[in-house]
Amino acid sequence: MEAMRLEGKVAIVSGAAGGIGSATARCFAREGAAVVMVDIDGEGCERVLSEILDQGGMARCYPADLTSEAEVVGLFEEVRREYGRLDILVNIAGGDCQPGAPVEEIDPELAMKNFDLNLKSTMLCCREAVKIMKPQLYGRIVNMSSLVYRGSSGQFSYAASKGGIFSFTRSLALALGAHNITANALAPALVEVEAFGRALGPERWAALAKASAERYPLGRIATPDDVAKAALFFASDDAAFITGQILEISGGARL
Ligand SMILES: NC(=O)c1ccc[n+]([C@@H]2O[C@H](COP(=O)([O-])OP(=O)(O)OC[C@H]3O[C@@H](n4cnc5c(N)ncnc54)[C@H](O)[C@@H]3O)[C@@H](O)[C@H]2O)c1
Repeated sequence: MEAMRLEGKVAIVSGAAGGIGSATARCFAREGAAVVMVDIDGEGCERVLSEILDQGGMARCYPADLTSEAEVVGLFEEVRREYGRLDILVNIAGGDCQPGAPVEEIDPELAMKNFDLNLKSTMLCCREAVKIMKPQLYGRIVNMSSLVYRGSSGQFSYAASKGGIFSFTRSLALALGAHNITANALAPALVEVEAFGRALGPERWAALAKASAERYPLGRIATPDDVAKAALFFASDDAAFITGQILEISGGARL
C-alpha cells in the first residue's frame, strides 16, 4: 500500500462546503491529514464532514465568515488550542460578486466585495497562519487564484482580486522561505461545480461548459479533483523546494 502523503499533518481547508473545497478536504483526509473544514455555509460543511468521517478520515467543521477579521482570528485561536500546530493552509473560499459586467458597469461596492471575499480573506488567513507556522519552522500555504489572473474581459474586479492573490503569494514566498514556509497559488480554468448550475441555470451552464471544453486543448473542463490533486502536490513534501509559483490547471487553455 502506498504511504499517505499528509499523514500527521494538520490542514485548514477553506471553502470546504463548495465544489473545489469539498474535493480538497476529502482528498486531504484520504491522505491522512486532520482537516479543519471552514466555510460560511455550516450545514454544507457538515454534510461533507459526515462523508469524510464515514470513510474513516479525520476532520471537523468550523463555520466562519472569512471576510471578518474577528472570525478569522477566532478560527486560528481555536486551531492553536485544539491541535497546537498548523502545517497546511489552503485558502479556497471565494467567488465572483459581479460576473459578466462590462468595464463601464463596474460597481465599486461589488468590486470591494470581490476584494474582501477573495483577497482580504486570503491575506487575513495567511497572516494568522504564519503566526503559528513561523515558530514551528514549517508551513505549506496554497492560495486559490484563477486563470483569469492573466486578465478577463468580463470579470474585472474578480480578475484583479485573483491577480492580487498571486502577487500576495509571491510576497509571502519571499518573506517566509527562511522559515521553511512555502506559498504557492492555483489557477484553474473553468471547473465543473454545482454553484454554476445554481447561478446560471442548467441550460446556460451546459452551454458554457461545452463551449469551454471545445476551446481547451484537452477537450474538457476541469473536475474539482483535478484542482484538489494540484493542491495536494503543493501541500505535500513533494513540493518542498517549490515556492512563489502559480500552477495553471487549465487543460492547456490560454497557452
Ligand atoms: N469553479 C471554477 O471554475 C473556478 C475557477 C477558478 C477559480 N475558482 C475559485 O475556486 C474557489 C472555489 O470555488 P468553487 O468553484 O468551488 O465554488 P463554490 O461556490 O462551490 O465554493 C465557494 C465556497 O466558498 C464559501 N464562501 C463564500 N463566501 C465565504 C465567506 N465569506 N467565508 C467563508 N466561506 C465563504 C461558499 O459557501 C462556498 O462553499 C473560489 O475562490 C473560486 O474563485 C473557481
